[in-house]
Amino acid sequence: MRFLLVFTLLGLSLAPAAANPVRPETLGSAAAIEAAVDRLLARMTLKEKIGQLHFPSLAFPHEPQIEAVRRGEIGAMLNVVDPRYIKAFAAAARESRLGIPMLYAIDAIYALKITFPPPLAWAATWRPDLAELAAYDVAREARALGVNWTFAPMVDVSRDPRWGRVIEGAGEDAFLASAFSAARVKGYRRGGLATSVKHFVGYGAPEGGRDYTGTEISTPELLDRYLPPFKAALDAGSETVMASFNTINGVPVTMNRALVTDLLKKRLGFDGFVTSDFVAIGELVAHGVARDLEEASVLAFKAGIDFDMASGGYDLYLARAVADGRIKVGAIDDAVRRVLRVKYRLGLFDQTEADFANLPRPVDDAAVRRSAREVARESFVMLKNDKAALPLTAATGRIALIGSSADSAQHDHSWWGPSGHQKPETETLRAALEHRMRPGQTLEYAPAFADPCGREFKDKDAAIAVAKRADVVVYNVIEDCEIQGEGVSRTKLGLSGQQKTMLDALAQTGKPIVLVVETGRPLVLAEASQQADAILIAWHPGTEGRTALAEVLTGEVAPSGKLPMTFPRAEGQIPMSYNVLPTGRPWTGSRYTTGYVDEKQTPLYPFGHGLTYTTFAYDKIVLSEPKMPVKGTIDVDVTVRNTGSRAGAEVVQLYTRQLVASRSRPVKELRAFEKITLKPGEARTVRFRLKAQDLGFHNDAGRFLVEAAPYTVMAGGSSDTALLADFVVTRD
Ligand code: BGC
Repeated sequence: MRFLLVFTLLGLSLAPAAANPVRPETLGSAAAIEAAVDRLLARMTLKEKIGQLHFPSLAFPHEPQIEAVRRGEIGAMLNVVDPRYIKAFAAAARESRLGIPMLYAIDAIYALKITFPPPLAWAATWRPDLAELAAYDVAREARALGVNWTFAPMVDVSRDPRWGRVIEGAGEDAFLASAFSAARVKGYRRGGLATSVKHFVGYGAPEGGRDYTGTEISTPELLDRYLPPFKAALDAGSETVMASFNTINGVPVTMNRALVTDLLKKRLGFDGFVTSDFVAIGELVAHGVARDLEEASVLAFKAGIDFDMASGGYDLYLARAVADGRIKVGAIDDAVRRVLRVKYRLGLFDQTEADFANLPRPVDDAAVRRSAREVARESFVMLKNDKAALPLTAATGRIALIGSSADSAQHDHSWWGPSGHQKPETETLRAALEHRMRPGQTLEYAPAFADPCGREFKDKDAAIAVAKRADVVVYNVIEDCEIQGEGVSRTKLGLSGQQKTMLDALAQTGKPIVLVVETGRPLVLAEASQQADAILIAWHPGTEGRTALAEVLTGEVAPSGKLPMTFPRAEGQIPMSYNVLPTGRPWTGSRYTTGYVDEKQTPLYPFGHGLTYTTFAYDKIVLSEPKMPVKGTIDVDVTVRNTGSRAGAEVVQLYTRQLVASRSRPVKELRAFEKITLKPGEARTVRFRLKAQDLGFHNDAGRFLVEAAPYTVMAGGSSDTALLADFVVTRD
């Protein structure tokens, strides 16, 4: 409980989040909601109260659960996506003594019927508005089934691509992750879902990248790196928060009162409810901090976990703990009040039978597809493009398309697509490219592999023969289908299966190679980058993704994504991020300086990197003032020019460094960004406003400091910045 003392000092930067806005469809003011909650609470039995604080495990059949709902013993369900059952649960809830409506939760993240690229790809667009749009559409699809609560957004900052769950977040940077956190919350909520920002907190820093392992996080790291995206989600109105599985400094978050109650509820002013992660309360026994599920349940509840996701402990033991005085009724009331508040805010008490009658409601698939296409287009990151290998112009002639994934109609080779949904039509990359062949161009396809994930060869020689006949080879590889997402950590981040062997053989042909990589995390592409002339990171592009990919490969659309995570040269460099602390012995190439003797010190591709079909020059950076008071602002004008021959989009990025401080500060921190489009030859000056209060940090005691000090501001098209200027922050 080492955080307990520390958080009492938190002040400046962690002012309570704005009260969650009440939805227009609900019953009026916040005060009216509180009064209604109080009236309802006064009528509830202890059993009915506890019923609001858990949902059962995934066990079927639903019929006994429906009966339990009718008795007022269950207030929420997980993974009920069949509208017939949602109607039956809703009817049972209406018929229960107090008629309290239910929450229906699923992980509506990026894929329901139509699959979007995953959230890491949303971050690669550097357009939070697109993330909001994607979240909105995913939410609309879920809402149309009757679902009203999503376990999203996942906002865990992570610098470790060995950890499979980086696919669900926005990458390594707290500022970028906060922008996407807020956008996603807004989108899901606008689409009609309550959100559950997760996983609070520090889950993105597992030891060795192994999912579910412990984390060791100092107070400044916690407050400056891991917490900001949660704060952003609360400010955007996230109704619920999910606690994470991991320990922090030895204490599982599921029993961590300092984090859940003192920091989240008291300091950040969160007045929605906190759910555990899936069976995480039971896992306190395996963590070795509770003897049994009963003890675990009491520990978790006392820490401030209001809601038990599927461990069964609250249902079984909370009443007994109240009876023998281990838990006070007042504490139960506080948790129930939080759940009911959310239900009122969502307008669930206003629903009638008619609201469920027409489930599933139709969704405008065409509109959702349009969003999915737009997100995919803007998410692709072109890492390199030597000798203008891309786009494939009319002059390209014969194109060899290699790789079984290029002919796969699977929407998503990644993870969170809930099963059992009828998937709509999707175009394969092969078909999408064939449609786009111009006179004089031909496309010849060879799968090379027996499966869409390149594990086994089917006909390597045929693929080589096709490559030899071609003018350019487009080789589509994929991070193996089953080695991403939750519980899937990797020690090797190269191309899996036989895909690298195939690349070696293709490289032997001497033909220009365009490598199209579908992945949910940074991979190690050091050798591949020597062999390929162009590399396009396509993430897992989803239902509209292969069409978008063909648009970009043929130059109909220019790539404009930028990396939200560093691509290392070797697994041994991990964890790796751009915003490291300086060292007393920077690398000079000689011994006794910081670095690896067997590897370069730089990443293969840095955070923020991404090319397009034109080029940009960063002409100048101009500050409105050389000084800014601790409560003040300055404007930073960055002039960017399109130096190529076609229009293109660029993400202008602004970073700062505090040069002298009371503790060592990162060599660079992202402070602002804007994606702009420039015509050939066009120059534009982008104005960023820097606020001194946004440049602060927390010390070991959890105190927020903005220090009078010299700073550098840097600008560029990646974290490898092109321009810099100095300024000072002054006391007044
Ligand atoms: C994951 C959560 C998810 C939950 C419910 C857990 O295993 O960690 O992110 O929301 O399952 O599906």
